[in-house]
Amino acid sequence: LSSIMVDISGVEVGTQISVMFLGKPVFIRRRTQAEIDEARAVELSALIDPASENPNKPGTDASDENRTMDEAGEWLVMMGVCTHLGCVPLGDGAGDFNGWFCPCHGSHYDTAGRIRKGPAPQNLHVPVAEFHDDTTIKLG
Ligand code: FES
Repeated sequence: LSSIMVDISGVEVGTQISVMFLGKPVFIRRRTQAEIDEARAVELSALIDPASENPNKPGTDASDENRTMDEAGEWLVMMGVCTHLGCVPLGDGAGDFNGWFCPCHGSHYDTAGRIRKGPAPQNLHVPVAEFHDDTTIKLG
């Protein structure tokens, strides 16, 4: 299985980069404290998909803490692939929940990439990923 190293040293708080991995876009977002707080304030019972969809934390629920790379919740890494029919969602605070919005059929994801409204059945998937060092994330 192939893996790639992504340099995240230039990613400012409140921005994201998109990289291609195995032919698909991966979003790497450095969240603001407001985005983290908003995601952590959501009750699990309000979520459509109760699973973290994070292979790095298998079997966990969709709590914000289970979606992110670091405990503080600053780094969120997700496949940029809508779980409905695979379009690439728009980011940077898009949609009704200030996260991502898929324009194909109107799926709204929150600041943790969790599906909140629309036809998509699952939270945006997290790829296999880990910190290689402080400024490098290894995908795969
Ligand atoms: Fe995203 Fe249909 S592919 S809402």
